[in-house]
Amino acid sequence: MALALLSSLCLLMICLAGGYGQEGKFSGPLKPMTFSIFEGQEPSQIIFQFKANPPATTFELTGETDDIFMIEQDGLLYYTKALDRETRAVHHLQLAALDSNGAIVEGPVSITIEVKDINDNRPTFLQSKYEGSVRQNSRPGKPFMYVNATDLDDPTTPNGQLFYEIVIQLPKINNVMYFQINNKTGAISLTQEGAQELNPDKNPSYNLVVSVKDMGGQNDNSFSHTTSVDITVRENIWKAPELVEILENSTDSYPVKITQVRWNDPGARYSLVNKETLPVFPFSIDQEGDIFVTQPLDREEKDAHVFFAIAKDEYGKPLAPPVDIHVKVIDINDNPPTCLDRRTVFEVQENENLGSSIGIFTAHDMDEENTINSVLKYKIAHQTPKVPADGLFSIEEYQGKLQLAKQSLKKQDNPQYNLTIEVSDKDFKTLCFVQVNVIDINDQIPIFEKSDYGSITLPEDTAVGSIILIIQATDADEPFTGSSKILYRVVQGDTEGRLEVDTDPQTNAGYVKIKKPLDFETEPVSNIVFQAENPEPLVYGVDYNASSFASFKLTVTDVNEAPVFPQHIFQVKVSEDTAVGTKVGNVTAKDPEGLAVSYSLRGDKRGWLKIDSVTGEIFSVAPLDREAESLYRVQVVATEVGGSSLSSMANFHLALTDVNDNAPRLSKDYTGLFFCHPLSTPGRLVFAAADDDLPSFRGPQFTFALGSGSLQNDWEVSKINGTHATLSTKHTNFEERVYEVPVRISDGGRPPLEATVSLPVTFCTCVEGSCFRPAGRQNGIPTVGMAVGILLTTFLVIGIILTVVFIRIRNNGGKDNVENARASEVRPLRS
Ligand SMILES: *[C@@H]1O[C@H](CO)[C@@H](O)[C@H](O)[C@H]1NC(C)=O
Ligand SMILES: *[C@@H]1O[C@H](CO)[C@@H](O)[C@H](O)[C@H]1NC(C)=O
Ligand SMILES: *[C@@H]1O[C@H](CO)[C@@H](O)[C@H](O)[C@H]1NC(C)=O
Ligand SMILES: *[C@@H]1O[C@H](CO)[C@@H](O)[C@H](O)[C@H]1NC(C)=O
Ligand SMILES: *[C@@H]1O[C@H](CO)[C@@H](O)[C@H](O)[C@H]1NC(C)=O
Ligand SMILES: *[C@@H]1O[C@H](CO)[C@@H](O)[C@H](O)[C@H]1NC(C)=O
Ligand SMILES: *[C@@H]1O[C@H](CO)[C@@H](O)[C@H](O)[C@H]1NC(C)=O
Repeated sequence: MALALLSSLCLLMICLAGGYGQEGKFSGPLKPMTFSIFEGQEPSQIIFQFKANPPATTFELTGETDDIFMIEQDGLLYYTKALDRETRAVHHLQLAALDSNGAIVEGPVSITIEVKDINDNRPTFLQSKYEGSVRQNSRPGKPFMYVNATDLDDPTTPNGQLFYEIVIQLPKINNVMYFQINNKTGAISLTQEGAQELNPDKNPSYNLVVSVKDMGGQNDNSFSHTTSVDITVRENIWKAPELVEILENSTDSYPVKITQVRWNDPGARYSLVNKETLPVFPFSIDQEGDIFVTQPLDREEKDAHVFFAIAKDEYGKPLAPPVDIHVKVIDINDNPPTCLDRRTVFEVQENENLGSSIGIFTAHDMDEENTINSVLKYKIAHQTPKVPADGLFSIEEYQGKLQLAKQSLKKQDNPQYNLTIEVSDKDFKTLCFVQVNVIDINDQIPIFEKSDYGSITLPEDTAVGSIILIIQATDADEPFTGSSKILYRVVQGDTEGRLEVDTDPQTNAGYVKIKKPLDFETEPVSNIVFQAENPEPLVYGVDYNASSFASFKLTVTDVNEAPVFPQHIFQVKVSEDTAVGTKVGNVTAKDPEGLAVSYSLRGDKRGWLKIDSVTGEIFSVAPLDREAESLYRVQVVATEVGGSSLSSMANFHLALTDVNDNAPRLSKDYTGLFFCHPLSTPGRLVFAAADDDLPSFRGPQFTFALGSGSLQNDWEVSKINGTHATLSTKHTNFEERVYEVPVRISDGGRPPLEATVSLPVTFCTCVEGSCFRPAGRQNGIPTVGMAVGILLTTFLVIGIILTVVFIRIRNNGGKDNVENARASEVRPLRS
């Protein structure tokens, strides 16, 4: 019998929104209604009981029944096969009540069945293999290809939300990913590293394995599919051209093409940007990317040019970073030698020996150094007067050394010679003029006006550069020659080099100046001795004697100075669990005048420290915390006690070392762990712990144990390694609900810290390996707790239906049916 058959097949689980358990919601008069039913259910379930009013005796169901939806004569609406949302998402049905003659007496009314999605379709890539190519140095993040998968499930639910991921990149060097994928769109692009490192010469192709998961990838039960992606790396032709060499002062007709740049694709707009500010920029670029020089260049004005070439798209946006163009201007010999001075003057002492050097004559050539264009040759072209002979001087051809060539000179023969020197390079000749003065010999020594300049007293802070004394010696040799010029040297009493003496070229007066600061503390009194000397050596037989020396006594007076720290930074290292009141360090400063020093702290923003104002010892006054401040920096001020209360400052750095003060915890939120109910074989789950302290060099070493309680018979915890452990069931006899399993985790620290955490494990009904429990807690989607609630309510409702609607009930299905329980809804249409 149909009814009997139905009663044995019909299972349950029809929940009415907003009124479980009220009889009226499962049966009622004929009116338009909408029902929502999950697809993939066990077949043959009851939807609703329509009540007919006389004279109606029977019902007629038409529309998109697909031979699935049926109505019994007494108005019991049910379906006979599992629904499939992907076949038809909404069924539009019409229901009419008929009298015994088959005439419509009520209706027809529309009955709408909405089929709700379950995750019963796998995502599938449209291609089993993808091929793409990317240009070297492409912009990171700019997609160069897409992979694309489809999933027949409802894209508005997590069931149809796809999540793309690169699983493998081959080859992978130093564990660096060169490619990334947009997890929503499947767009593949280069990472920052890929944009920099990819090089077709090193490796022209890569292979990726890309996976797609449904459920937004965020659920352990999502389906996945993978595909293979082959990527070819193409050379970037947008790169700096080689160095361009241009001959200077060329007579070519301009513009002249010198080099080129090319963007990777046609249609780029090229331009040049000058790096330096030049009055004229002698380069241009055309829209082919050819670069020209527009006028002759002059190496002596500028021997190298650097500028940028830029490629932009049609909207003026740069396509890539600019490339540098380097131009070197090649020398030609287009500059004659030049004389350094209008007239170069040398001196030669009378009686100098034949061959004595008079001096080095040099000229200059603007053409490139160390090339044939700038090599100079010297020759004496002319000598006036030719007395007592011509050819008195010679010059070395390349070095320019001027020498006495024939004999020594006598001032009374002739005190002055004018020489014309011919200087030549490869193509040019220039005449330069040299004057040689014959001077008296250096047979007089400098004599000081007095040997003792008395005593001078200065405060130690006398400014550097101050002139403190003028000394004077005289020399009877010919004025304004190296024989009479006087140089003063400090030869005694100034080991630190605090003084220097400048000579006035006109008067030979010596100005004694302070070169480095005076210091009372190191040298309060010194006897300074000067020597006066000539730059020219004395002739044989004449020597400096005591008249070339003079002295004075320098007294430095004290000025109060601030205390001095021996170092600028004091650094100490302490453990963060250092007890309050412990001495963590000390500083010392000394006052140069020997006054006592008082210490204070500045910048102790966490109030962790105090300093003993007398000893400079620093103590902790609060618990220290490395996790808050691993290097704590404060300043120490030292102030002299008495005097002018001058102070100075140094830095005190407190480096905190870690101790184990953070308890272990679970490494993430483990709300998604589940087993399918009923359990067929004992199962296991993996979880991990974490800790906020610094790991030891071996990495974290946690130990795991089951928390207290009478759970030892149900569960077992075993360690996998230092961070991971498994939770296994010891039997299969669990209820369909959430178990909070306490787990004790201990870190390996000294001393160890321990925490008991709770792992929520859900036992739920599964379809194709998924727990019917959405991952996120979005509005309107039941949570685990709610699902269990719905389930319980469902049993209640079933009970009512079974009692109210059916005459006979076969009890045998009950147990199996629970396994298939699903949170379906049937909700009456608001009319
Ligand atoms: C992916 O495929 C779907 C279905 O063929 C299509 O609608 C979508 O536009 C494709 N997306 C991309 C990025 O190609
Ligand atoms: C998916 O990509 C977005 C950015 O594109 C990122 O913010 C998000 O964290 C990614 N999701 C996961 C699970 O990696
Ligand atoms: C170019 O060369 C000629 C001789 O070759 C010279 O006269 C002229 O000064 C040079 N011009 C520049 C700018 O150096
Ligand atoms: C050398 O040249 C200078 C400058 O032209 C001139 O004053 C001087 O009289 C010349 N001396 C001799 C000896 O010709
Ligand atoms: C140093 O020598 C000069 C002559 O060269 C002489 O006049 C002077 O008295 C000498 N001084 C001393 C201290 O011998
Ligand atoms: C301060 O520290 C130094 C080392 O930095 C140590 O030699 C000295 O004895 C310490 N002084 C005091 C008073 O602790
Ligand atoms: C510990 O084991 C887990 C799970 O097997 C694994 O993912 C992880 O890499 C392991 N960690 C170490 C440090 O070996």
